[in-house]
Amino acid sequence: MAQRFSDEFLAELRMRCDIEQIISSYTPLKRRGKNLVGLCPFHNEKTPSFTVYPESQSFFCFGCGAGGEVISFIRRAENLDYTEAVRLLCDRCGMVMPSEGYDNSLAEKRKRMYEINKEAARFFHSCLFEEQGKAGLDYYKERGLKKGTIIRFGLGYAPDGWRNLLTYMRGKGYSYEELYEANLANKSEKNGKVSFYDSFRNRVMVPIIDVRGNVVAFGGRVLDDSKPKYINSSDTLVYKKSLGVFGLNLAKSTKEKSLILVEGYMDAISLHQAGFDNVIACLGTALTSEMAHLLARYTDEIILSYDADDAGQKATDRAIGIFSSIGMKVRVIHLTGGKDPDEILKKYGPERYRSLIDGAANDIEFELIRLRKDFDLMTSDGKMKYLERAAEVLAKTSVIAQDIYTSRLSEELQVDKSRIAVRIDQLRRRTQRKEEGQKYKRIQQDAMSQNTKIALKNSTNIRAVKAEERLLGALYRNPDFYRGIKGEIAAEDFSVGIHGRIFTLLAERIEEHRSLELTSFSQELAGEEMDIFVQIIKKNENLNHTFKVCSDCVQVMTEEREKRQQNVSAATLSDEDFLALINQQKKGI
Ligand code: GTP
Ligand code: MN
Repeated sequence: MAQRFSDEFLAELRMRCDIEQIISSYTPLKRRGKNLVGLCPFHNEKTPSFTVYPESQSFFCFGCGAGGEVISFIRRAENLDYTEAVRLLCDRCGMVMPSEGYDNSLAEKRKRMYEINKEAARFFHSCLFEEQGKAGLDYYKERGLKKGTIIRFGLGYAPDGWRNLLTYMRGKGYSYEELYEANLANKSEKNGKVSFYDSFRNRVMVPIIDVRGNVVAFGGRVLDDSKPKYINSSDTLVYKKSLGVFGLNLAKSTKEKSLILVEGYMDAISLHQAGFDNVIACLGTALTSEMAHLLARYTDEIILSYDADDAGQKATDRAIGIFSSIGMKVRVIHLTGGKDPDEILKKYGPERYRSLIDGAANDIEFELIRLRKDFDLMTSDGKMKYLERAAEVLAKTSVIAQDIYTSRLSEELQVDKSRIAVRIDQLRRRTQRKEEGQKYKRIQQDAMSQNTKIALKNSTNIRAVKAEERLLGALYRNPDFYRGIKGEIAAEDFSVGIHGRIFTLLAERIEEHRSLELTSFSQELAGEEMDIFVQIIKKNENLNHTFKVCSDCVQVMTEEREKRQQNVSAATLSDEDFLALINQQKKGI
């Protein structure tokens, strides 16, 4: 059971941690009326649909449906559990965590997992300098790594055999289960007998270290050409792959204004060795918008330096989209003469790479260069087609960029600048109209809430769902109405389980005259439940609530419940099904 915080404590936390301030350190917010809007930190978007409501100290995203108050925001943004999110906020606003009755088993477990990882990294590292690790050390030397680099990155070697790490770690007092949970041991079951063995065998080991200096995961590479080339840790209590960045612990203190993002560990390590201290690597997973948000805290310019192959080009395109959508500057290094940065260094030395950085094209140039390859500019047909595509690209950029590139295009193609500008303007207007149309459509769709849509899909009764939402919204706004309906309706009468649970929480709090601030609900409602609750509150915000509305809702709900009881086939959705559907919907957006 996680720690319970008193309403008073949560109210104070909420007061001291202004949601507007907290959230704007994750995504820039602009004032719109009494609210603020910005790009949602939880999904990828180009036009802002993420809204912060200072009055109720809450947020809601019309794009992905995420909503809540300051604690649920931190939980989601930092991937923390409830208590940890509260602790982070306490640290930020200088409050002391209440310690009584504090159950810190998860935090303890996490602490231990950091220790396990550190101890394992130590073991792998020390093996390199022993007889059993000679193959590993030779491998690194072969690849041109110096001893200082090996030490700085804490590189290591996992010896061949099934129980090397296991035996060492058992000696340090860690259990098989703990090693298994840390991804350092695998489990096999034969005839009902469970046995454990080392996950990493005969591989050179790269520890992944987070910005606070904790070893959180490992990448292990084979010494030859066998497959799989790398084994990378999967998610654990202390590691989230979709957020994993290699080298940020070092690169965060660079004096350079930008960070260089490469594909592989080895690229990052050899670039650091060559003096590029602002290099980081993604870890074989596609770049996520979460990752981009994380990087945005350290720099506002990313230089992409992916491999020169097709996969690298595709990944570059995606990454440009993601970084630009959150307002980061992007430049792209065009590799020539080698397949990846590591090879370029080996073949031509650091000066060549430096000159590639200096000549790195910004995202617009990069796109134009690539477009041009598809057309034969010696023919007027090719020229026209290229111009049209280039105008499409420029139509999406800033006025200044348009001016610069229109001039360049005009010179390059010997076409009058004003003609190109006119075409860009036409295209810009067209896109704008289209976007407005889409926005309008989206607002209409939002009006029909996610819950209602889900209910529709499942032929659960919309009438019931609507009445339930209205009743909850009304009670939240006017708790006094509760007295009038008390006893007439219970959690079981709701067709959506989560609605019933929200009702119970509301009722309890109203009866005990406790605070109805969203923050005080956050410890009982899990992420998605909070989304639904905030959605209901937002929808009901501008409606007129009278007691009559409440009693009508109760009436409708009672009728619908009776119908349901008669007709078992229109059964209610289980919470699992309901959440699964919401998630499906979110992904669909
Ligand atoms: P080498 O130069 O071949 O040692 O490796 P690299 O670090 O340059 O890696 P590469 O460019 O081949 O791949 C980029 C990243 O993808 C690696 O750093 C790994 O994180 C990941 N990766 C590559 N191969 C595999 C694999 O077989 N399995 C997994 N899980 N990840 C891989
Ligand atoms: Mn490589």
